Amino acid sequence: MFGTDSRLQANRALTAISRTDLSRPLKCAIVDGLLGKGSYVFDYGCGRGDDVRRLVAMGYRASGWDPVHRPDSECNRSSVVNLGYVVNVIEDAQERSEALRQAWALAEDLLIVSARLGLDGRALQGTCAFADGWLTSRGTFQKFYEQQELRHWIEQVLRVNAVPAAPGIYYIFRDEQTRSDFVAARYRRRRAAPRLTKSEALFTAHRDHLEPLMQFVSERGRLPFDDELSNTRAILDVFGSLRRAFRTVLAVTESERWNEIKQERSQDLLVYLALSQFEGRTPFGRLPLSLQRDVKAFFGAYTRACATADELLFSLGSPDVVDTACRQSPIGKLTPSALYLHESALAETSPVLRLYEGCARGYLGRVEGANIIKLHRGEPTVSYLSYPEFDRNPHPPLASALTVHLQTFRVRWRDYTSSGNRPILHRKELFVSRDHPAYGKFARLTRIEEGKGLYRDTNRIGFEAGWNEALARTGLYLRGHRLLARGGLRSIP
Ligand SMILES: C[S@@+](CC[C@H](N)C(=O)[O-])C[C@H]1O[C@@H](n2cnc3c(N)ncnc32)[C@H](O)[C@@H]1O
Repeated sequence: MFGTDSRLQANRALTAISRTDLSRPLKCAIVDGLLGKGSYVFDYGCGRGDDVRRLVAMGYRASGWDPVHRPDSECNRSSVVNLGYVVNVIEDAQERSEALRQAWALAEDLLIVSARLGLDGRALQGTCAFADGWLTSRGTFQKFYEQQELRHWIEQVLRVNAVPAAPGIYYIFRDEQTRSDFVAARYRRRRAAPRLTKSEALFTAHRDHLEPLMQFVSERGRLPFDDELSNTRAILDVFGSLRRAFRTVLAVTESERWNEIKQERSQDLLVYLALSQFEGRTPFGRLPLSLQRDVKAFFGAYTRACATADELLFSLGSPDVVDTACRQSPIGKLTPSALYLHESALAETSPVLRLYEGCARGYLGRVEGANIIKLHRGEPTVSYLSYPEFDRNPHPPLASALTVHLQTFRVRWRDYTSSGNRPILHRKELFVSRDHPAYGKFARLTRIEEGKGLYRDTNRIGFEAGWNEALARTGLYLRGHRLLARGGLRSIP
């Protein structure tokens, strides 16, 4: 059934690479808060065991098994199991599915599956076709997946939903409610509780009791049920009910902000519900209890919440809706073809734009290193751009771009690191929100550069060479975010 040339044999022993850093899938899970310090991690197909060693050094309990490098280790059932870049080296389709099933059988809470994607493999695709992949010049087998193909395969073999974590990486949760909670939390924005406007005796006296309540309401946008706070008993003793306790909070804080928080939380929930349409919506009774309560608090009924979410989702089908949302966005750099945003500003945009980006994220997961998001206006496409020097370089160069088309689901990746004349950014304040700590610094530099006429040749300054020429012409140079005159260390203005 396999094999363009049956005389060829794939060499598994050579597939394990030596890692100098924790692998991407495990890093991803740590960033997503899925590896608590006490977690037990089992690395199925651990190669030479570099990830296991690193995890142990970081304070996790971890072990691993590998048919080539650690055949005698025990396979332990564990809270988290990592199947990292294993399935793409197995040329036999049945064995590949079996490895996935074995790893899943060991996972008590979470399985992380990763595989190399087609975008990484273009350079190798000339080597030699073998089975459903390629035989490399070293004699190893590599199957390069498409993002969606990997998901379909996992879901078809395991019969559970896979959640995209990042390109080429999926999470498979044992518990359906944990999965829904994880996905919903992705679309819940982080907000600090409103500040106090004046001190009030009752509030000050019971602040310790009230703070968890304020924290809860700022996270969920609604009052908690009695069983949702650890200190409910103490609050009830003083105030009689959580509602009354919160009235005290309202009296001493900016009450308008609490309304905004409620509004934002209900929008977050809508974005989550709209996007959950793609993977089959969880029936109300199987949603985590806290989400069921959110739905009731904001929409009264699940059917109503879903209908509103669907309306929002279907509205994206009209190109005008996205284009209008881009044009009206108070944040982001608008060009004729796209709106560009720093990832930290995404939460500040309208539900339409969050949903638009969410469609891409729901497909790809988080794109590591990407910090600028390009929402295309003319076609249903989202790009994740990586500017590693965004914070420190006043005009950071583009390192890579990952683009996904939301109708064809084609993913393209482009590397700019070896280009001699990379695209660069200007007016960095436009990409971030006004609350960004460096907003003022970025805006000041833009004013000065504009005043010096540096932005006149808009066609050329978008690339390193043209920008360096413009600077050289004026006799100015940049140190950090300061513009200096050559010949003397005069700061401008
Ligand atoms: C590319 S390496 C990845 C190693 C490690 N997980 C990492 O990310 O560094 C692929 C590994 O899969 C192992 N492997 C091959 N067939 C396997 C199977 N059927 N079950 C489990 N592991 C397998 C190989 O021995 C090899 O160590």
